[in-house]
Amino acid sequence: MASEEKPLVVVTCTAPVNIAVIKYWGKRDEDLVLPINSSLSVTLHQDQLKTTTTAAISKDFTEDRIWLNGREEDVGQPRLQACLREIRRLARKRRSTGDEDPPPLSLSYKVHIASVNNFPTAAGLASSAAGYACLAYALARVYGVDSDLSEVARRGSGSACRSLYGGFVEWQMGERADGKDSVARQVAPESHWPELRVLILVVSAERKLMGSTAGMQTSVETSPLLRFRAEAVVPGRMVEMTHCVRERDFQGFGRLTMKDSNQFHATCLDTFPPISYLSDISRRIVRLVHCFNAHHGQTKVAYTFDAGPNAVVFTLDDTVPEFVAAVRHCFPPESNGDKFLKGLPVRPASLSDELRAALDVDPTPGGVKHIIATQVGPGPQTLDDPHAHLLGPDGLPKPAA
Ligand code: DP6
Repeated sequence: MASEEKPLVVVTCTAPVNIAVIKYWGKRDEDLVLPINSSLSVTLHQDQLKTTTTAAISKDFTEDRIWLNGREEDVGQPRLQACLREIRRLARKRRSTGDEDPPPLSLSYKVHIASVNNFPTAAGLASSAAGYACLAYALARVYGVDSDLSEVARRGSGSACRSLYGGFVEWQMGERADGKDSVARQVAPESHWPELRVLILVVSAERKLMGSTAGMQTSVETSPLLRFRAEAVVPGRMVEMTHCVRERDFQGFGRLTMKDSNQFHATCLDTFPPISYLSDISRRIVRLVHCFNAHHGQTKVAYTFDAGPNAVVFTLDDTVPEFVAAVRHCFPPESNGDKFLKGLPVRPASLSDELRAALDVDPTPGGVKHIIATQVGPGPQTLDDPHAHLLGPDGLPKPAA
């Protein structure tokens, strides 16, 4: 049966979070969401962190509607509108090239969208990246678009275009004024570096004070350091990071990841008025990581921080138990000792007296709320099981189970 005859066409997709190891900060075009530098990220596994989105179209719908985490939101917000316009433009383009016959009516249909995260929104865990990547992917499936979705996702949130792929992903800044060459590409698949692990140290689950969009806009306007970074530092770092990933060189990867995070936060401090996303606990984590590495005489763990105080720590699987023990030592869990560690199982380990002495920190109880242990993962997926749909046959959100 052709799609236009169905009362309701519905698809459900999932998309991952990504964490940048070479950061995107600053736009050269606010409208088209074009960056002032290229960036590179690691896609995190959806078993731990993901967005799930259902998109449904029907000739019976009278308006576009969206529900986020169960609550209806304003569908008129500009970024959402930009994504919808862009996907419908791509769908129209595809139809007009005669790839499909007869032209379905579905293009004029209104869409209902429901989306849920399995992690807190806007806590510095890149929820907007997973959210807009999932939206772009689900809309593409429901409207029958199979072209590159970088532009659709990017219009929602710049970093979202990197969540369209698994593994290691670069967002090439591009040069064109229309942004056609500002696209995400996979550098290496998720299977490339199986030993790599990611620990998210959740410091605060509160919403951040200054969103990325406003923050980077002020940085572009006022920070000479940011301009220097984009022009003189990032191009070389992109080459170096790509090389470290390809060679699975953890020492190089870890050092560059930390340096790039530090430089991003330095540009925030160079912004006027200054922006600061790191908390006291974040700085203690930085210190812990450097003490841990100094004790081992090599880069065994590496931190990175986005626009919030949570740390994302990269390490290799054989280092995870000892580093988690070090985190427990420095930030003793307050009440949730059993729920402190989520995600992948971690073998218990005890700290050697030497390492305990090397850490040289006063413990801060409750400083780290919990750790999510995860790994590199695949890109967006389409779910075939109809039970997965967040919208019922009437096109409205199913009551939460
Ligand atoms: C610090 O992609 O959230 O996480 O394009 O304005 O939506 P907008 O910004 P966003 O910025 C992400 C900034 C970052 C670094 C990164 O992910 O590269």
